[in-house]
Formats: sequence, structure tokens, C-alpha cells
Amino acid sequence: MKSITLTQFLTEERRAGYGSTDLTQLLEVVARACKRIGVATGKGALGGVLGEAGSDNVQGEAQKKLDVLSNEILLDANAWGGHLAACASEEMADPQPIPDAYPKGGYLLLFDPLDGSSNIDVNIAVGTIFSVLRRPQGHRQDVSVNEFLQPGTQQVAAGYVVYGPSTLLVLTLGHGTHVFTLDREVGSFILTRRDAMIPEETSEFAVNMSNQRYWEAPMQRYVGDLLAGKEGPRERDFNMRWVASMVADVHRILTRGGIFSYPLDSKIAAKGGKLRLMYEANPMAFIVEQAGGAASTGHGRIMELQPEALHQRVPVFLGSKAEVEAAERYHLDV
Ligand code: AHG
Repeated sequence: MKSITLTQFLTEERRAGYGSTDLTQLLEVVARACKRIGVATGKGALGGVLGEAGSDNVQGEAQKKLDVLSNEILLDANAWGGHLAACASEEMADPQPIPDAYPKGGYLLLFDPLDGSSNIDVNIAVGTIFSVLRRPQGHRQDVSVNEFLQPGTQQVAAGYVVYGPSTLLVLTLGHGTHVFTLDREVGSFILTRRDAMIPEETSEFAVNMSNQRYWEAPMQRYVGDLLAGKEGPRERDFNMRWVASMVADVHRILTRGGIFSYPLDSKIAAKGGKLRLMYEANPMAFIVEQAGGAASTGHGRIMELQPEALHQRVPVFLGSKAEVEAAERYHLDV
């Protein structure tokens, strides 16, 4: 069978009425930047990219060298094309407008340049997550933070790249979720799974169990019932996995089902959660919903939240639809 490259896929999507020339260009630029990040990640110690950068990001977290490098690669790649008005990154306090030397376009790009960075130095899969919004109409001056504060339902595209045994790009433009595998010899992303679907039911969950004693009562009850297995109210055994790279955990769920959760706990309650709404929760929610799954804060659909701040954090439950709904019932039943 003839292989379909990302370029061909995006061109055909556009002809079918999904996206625009600018969006196609934007996504190709992001994919190219991610290939460069993948090369840097793959070099590991040989590329001098392991270890701490010696700086903190806006959230006060120590940055790894690869966090900083990946952020620069994405910013540089997206500066000149004329399709973007500004970028916002988990690693930067404020959005970065497109430099004056270049034309400005109608899209806004948000990204977590290197998700799972605690795994870089131990050679476990990491990734990039991105989300694309349209710039609200009527804004012609410098881009303000408020223009980014759109609910996830407004995303026009979202994706993630996993730098693992193979490099994968997972993408949605709002009708289906599609998987591309990087052909490293040729340098092209090739469509390897069209319309990925997450099984509705699952017996696998992903959560950082070391936080158990800090969880709220509904989460304690929910996971308690999963752990009780066949003898408990769920009447079946559940398996557990936790990679601590959201991209890798979500990709497992896209492949074979499961529920991923990073709930609220008393250590992070003041921050509102661990994962970032704009760079992690919304794009992953869009991808998962487009694959037939669900994504909730435990109290409602993630994508319907009206963001209040660029770096806002939220509790996250996403994956197999029936299991996310089950987790939600524990939280709504208090
Ligand atoms: P970051 O983008 O700072 O690397 O955050 C990683 C996220 C996510 O990828 C992962 O699921 C979670 O943090 C892991 O958190 P714990 O270390 O608390 O398990």
C-alpha cells in the first residue's frame, strides 16, 4: 500500500474543508521542529543535552537543558512563517509575539516543549504537546494574554509527539485522531493509524500512587475500589501503569485503552492541580475525545472550562469513556 505522508494528509484534509493553508503550514513547521527535538533527545549524553539547565521556569520548576532547547527550537521554527500571531509555552511566563521582522497570522500556538522532563536523564520516552487556537477576531494590535484564554472546545488542532523507541506524531484537526510514525531514514512522518479509537471499557489505570494519602475522599474511594479487584464492587482486577510522561501514558491509552489521572491532592490544592490546562489538559482532552474517549476534571468536561490564567492547573481524568465516567461519578456523589 502506498504510504501517506503528513504533507499529503494535511493537503487532503484541507481540500476536504478541514483547516487552511496557514494551518497546514503551521502544523508542518511544528512537526519539523519536533523532528529536531527528537534528534536532540536521541543524542542523549553524546549531544550534551542531559542534566539541569541551571534555571527555573515560570512555575518555579528546575528546567532541564532539553526543556530550554526544545522551547527555543519551537519558537525559532514558528517565528517566520507568517501563520502565527504569538506562541505561549509552559516554559515562559508570558506569550511571545511574532518578531516585528516577520508577518503575523491568525493563529495562536501553545506548547509544552518537553513533557515528562524528569525522564530525560533516565532514557524513558518524553514528548511535546501542542494546541492551536484562532486569534479572536477584531484584535489587530499586540497579542494579549486574554486572547489565549479560550476554552478547549475552541481548539482548531492539537497534537503530541512521543520521542520513544519510535518517534510518533498524534494529531487531531477536530475530526478523528490520527497517528504518524517518523520514517527516520526518509525524514517524513507517515500515517500509520487513521481514526484511532480508544476502547470504551478498560481494566488499566495510570496514577502516581505515592500521592494516595494526599488525595481527596472521592479519589481514595475510586482507587480503593479499583485495587479491591474481583472481590470489590468493580468485580474485576485492574492493572496499573505509570510512566510519569503524560505523552507516553496517554499514548498507551490511545493504543489499548485505560484511564490516566492526575487528581487534586492536598500538596497541590493551592495550585489547582498538577497538570496545565492550556499546554497539557486541553490538547490531550481534544485528542482523546476525537478518539472516542472522555476527559474530565472529575466534575465536568475539561474542554468546557473557561481558562482564567495562562498557566492554570487542573485535575485530569482521561481515557476510556466508561471508566472516566465511573471516576466522575465518585467525584459528583459527595
Ligand atoms: P513536565 O512537563 O514538567 O515534565 O511534567 C510532567 C507531567 C506529566 O508528563 C506527568 O504525567 C506528570 O507530570 C508526572 O508527575 P509525577 O512526577 O508527580 O508523577
